Amino acid sequence: MNSENAPDTPERTYTMGYSDAFQEMLHRRKAEVQARRLLGRLRPGLRVLDLGCGPGTISMGLAKAVEPGELHGIDMEPSQIEMARAAASAGGHRNASFRTGDATDLPYDDGAFDVAHCHALLMHVPDTRAVLAEVKRVLKPGGLFSAREMIGAASFSEPDLGVLGDIWKTYSDLLEANGGHSQMGRELRRVFREAGFSDVEAAASFESYGTVEDVDFFHRFAEGWFFSPETVQAAARHGLATPKDFDEWRHAMTQWKDAPGAFAAIAWGEAIARKP
Ligand SMILES: C[S@@+](CC[C@H](N)C(=O)[O-])C[C@H]1O[C@@H](n2cnc3c(N)ncnc32)[C@H](O)[C@@H]1O
Repeated sequence: MNSENAPDTPERTYTMGYSDAFQEMLHRRKAEVQARRLLGRLRPGLRVLDLGCGPGTISMGLAKAVEPGELHGIDMEPSQIEMARAAASAGGHRNASFRTGDATDLPYDDGAFDVAHCHALLMHVPDTRAVLAEVKRVLKPGGLFSAREMIGAASFSEPDLGVLGDIWKTYSDLLEANGGHSQMGRELRRVFREAGFSDVEAAASFESYGTVEDVDFFHRFAEGWFFSPETVQAAARHGLATPKDFDEWRHAMTQWKDAPGAFAAIAWGEAIARKP
């Protein structure tokens, strides 16, 4: 039995995992929202790379924008690549192709792409510099790189009910314990510049859960992901919170869902830059 299957020691360095609850969250995403700034700079014929593409929900819009150019997606998880291929086939995106691979060791030639994009990837990969060096290598001179990553400390739930801030904090701590970067969204401008990119433009935005349907979704997501046995065990294993803490937070989340002013928002930072 490998450590991933051992019930007492769920070894999970990629914090989110691939549960149905998280896949549901990924399936809400699309290029028009999550890659809005980049979309305005794409044109037909460009060759684009989507790193950590997941099930490809953002990749589809990128593929459409550069047709008849090519969209290449890469992700370390084979099941995500299968989903992305199925989405491309269902959407008739014949210019989109996907492969399994590691963002720190890209299987592409130097200067192979006009544009590289990633969404919610750098926050999870321990070696940021390795990813950026690879992106720089596979971009053509003058090529564009864009990224959008979470800012854990600026995300919130209202009303806080005295404990919901602890959920955001524990989530950030868990990312860090797994080698991730919970505040990467606010660090992108510096990180891009240190990696040698030029013309770096940074911005920030919120993903809002402020309607009855979205509050309901966010609560369901918390139930299915944050309060799952895997997350509870991982937090306990890293000494971040006890199962009793999670019981208290779960109760508060149910109260939150029914509060008349229930509102939650995830903060994201983004940057777009050029390879000199
Ligand atoms: C949070 S998901 C984001 C998926 C997609 N970009 C989106 O926002 O909908 C992060 C993805 O990055 C992938 N990933 C994590 N580390 C990776 C690495 N080193 N190389 C390639 N993919 C990686 C995971 O498998 C996962 O599918």
